[in-house]
Amino acid sequence: MSADSQFNASLKAFCKRVDHHLNLWLPEPAGPEARLQEAMRYSVVGGGGKRVRPVLVYAAGQALNVQVEQLDACACAVEIIHAYSLIHDDLPAMDNDDLRRGRPTCHRAFDDATAILAGDALQAFAFEVLAADSALQTSPANQIEMIKLLAQASGSMGMAGGQAIDLGAVGKTLSLNELENMHLLKTGALIRASVLLGAMCSPDIQADKLEALDTYALCVGLAFQIHDDVLDVTADTKTLGKPQGSDQQQNKPTYPALLGLEGAQQRALELHQRAIAALKNFDESADILRQLSAYIIEREH
Ligand code: IPE
Ligand code: IPE
Ligand code: MG
Ligand code: MG
Ligand code: MG
Repeated sequence: MSADSQFNASLKAFCKRVDHHLNLWLPEPAGPEARLQEAMRYSVVGGGGKRVRPVLVYAAGQALNVQVEQLDACACAVEIIHAYSLIHDDLPAMDNDDLRRGRPTCHRAFDDATAILAGDALQAFAFEVLAADSALQTSPANQIEMIKLLAQASGSMGMAGGQAIDLGAVGKTLSLNELENMHLLKTGALIRASVLLGAMCSPDIQADKLEALDTYALCVGLAFQIHDDVLDVTADTKTLGKPQGSDQQQNKPTYPALLGLEGAQQRALELHQRAIAALKNFDESADILRQLSAYIIEREH
């Protein structure tokens, strides 16, 4: 098998695995709260989604020879937080988008109030999964550290904080530092947490390996959002599964707006190279992480 087809097969297997576990964890819609639970399922397993964050959990774990069953809870938790962030990101009070993963956004398929509640419930649910998974064999102290890491990555000094900066910056010109900080928070924080959670499932991770993975994660997290900004300019709505040109239409601060398209692509490439360099002391068990870094800046949606 070529390196490419091996990578694609691994991606597919990890996606299938996390989908299976998400389906098992998600509540079956029943009773008076059924509509809320339908909205949760619609947004998490209803179709589409590249599952980049769970794949990063599995790939980081694989780089450290962690057993795959140990990684399922973290993989589910980061995808659930991500799904919640997308539901709220699309709301009329935020990006006001109608299309997500090729289908109506949650508030369009249901209604604004249900979408807000689905996001709320998913956020709580992610921590439930991380706290309650019986396959995760780690010390209670390490489990609490994992919960703390995910909470910090999601909160006002992570994703939610980045989203607040994003909304406050509409129509303004941010400096490159300010834009980078916004991207590191709104998208980078959860991507970083995905890699670190995978690493924390290893019972005996060495400090230098953890630091290297952290550098890798910071670089791919920022590159991910830069490429998302690039795709908003270069891709088409059908391929993206979300409205192309949404950033420009709303006057959002983005990398292409500040550096031009080529400047943004160049910055993403540099970050990819830094991510690869960070993994220099890892053997071929980190190849999926390496290929993921390339995928993140080359993907078409
Ligand atoms: C989109 O994330 C939102 C950002 C943080 C840029 P993804 O591109 O990972 O979205 P899905 O999960 O594949 O739909
Ligand atoms: C969203 O960034 C980041 C999140 C935390 C959800 P965008 O607003 O650029 O994401 P898309 O382009 O709508 O997926
Ligand atoms: Mg947004
Ligand atoms: Mg958006
Ligand atoms: Mg975007």
